[in-house]
Amino acid sequence: MKRRTTVISIMTTIVLLGGCASIPNPFAEEADPTEKETPVEENQGGEVQDPNEDQDEGKENPEEETETDTGLPDPEETVTVTADGKKVITNVNDPLVLVNKERNLPADFVPEDLVIPNVPFPFTEDLPKKQLQKVAADAAEALFDQAEKDGIPLFAQSGYRSYDRQEAIFTANAERVGEEEANKFSAFPGQSEHQSGLALDVTSPEVEFKLVEQFGETEAGRWVKANAHKYGFIIRYPKGKETITGYQYEPWHLRYVGKEHAKRIHEQNMTLEEYLGVEVEPVNSSQ
Ligand code: DAL
Ligand code: ZN
Repeated sequence: MKRRTTVISIMTTIVLLGGCASIPNPFAEEADPTEKETPVEENQGGEVQDPNEDQDEGKENPEEETETDTGLPDPEETVTVTADGKKVITNVNDPLVLVNKERNLPADFVPEDLVIPNVPFPFTEDLPKKQLQKVAADAAEALFDQAEKDGIPLFAQSGYRSYDRQEAIFTANAERVGEEEANKFSAFPGQSEHQSGLALDVTSPEVEFKLVEQFGETEAGRWVKANAHKYGFIIRYPKGKETITGYQYEPWHLRYVGKEHAKRIHEQNMTLEEYLGVEVEPVNSSQ
């Protein structure tokens, strides 16, 4: 599969992010009045390159060729653009689906195979937010099993959220701190990875089960940072990458992408945007 490097300008929506990553966020992402809370493995389906075949054969000018054969979903080819310019994601069931401030899940998208993983939660009710896509739920169980074996007090706080649920959460956050401020830590409906069923917020008793930046400095937070990729998860909003992801540092927000991809993303210290070849224009270099 050939693809061309994509340039998008998510910075237009996040130019005011500077410095926010170092501010502990007391609201976390789950500040909801009604609730106290605060892709397949490496794509095997690509073209098989004959080792004896010259890759540049037949190209008029290989030096100018910018296409690469990565086997990864092309950010440009995995959206449709509505009349008002909104990008709606089409590869909704791909574990490598890219959901961000530029790319919206369809409002009616609900993952087909949501299940509740058998992992510790700091509450007992079977709320919808306990659910994950089956592939992510299985991976979460393996992650939490290892945490338990290593004596790490790790808890799951929030997985799947419907579009409507995210709308309620974002609205509540925006009413409290304003829309722009809220969007530094809370996604607009349609733009939350939680709607994909592939994201899981984790926490620990050390931070009273809250979703706060200090979690990254706890024993559990450090363990997650060092081990999540072995089970197919990445820390989706890393420190220092705020201008790329569009969100402040969230050491608690794990995103399932599959083991091979997670390993590469972890080893290369990348965001999902960078891994998928989305270039971000440095609009505001003073951040
Ligand atoms: N906290 C992340 C960005 C969300 O609301 O999905
Ligand atoms: Zn989250």
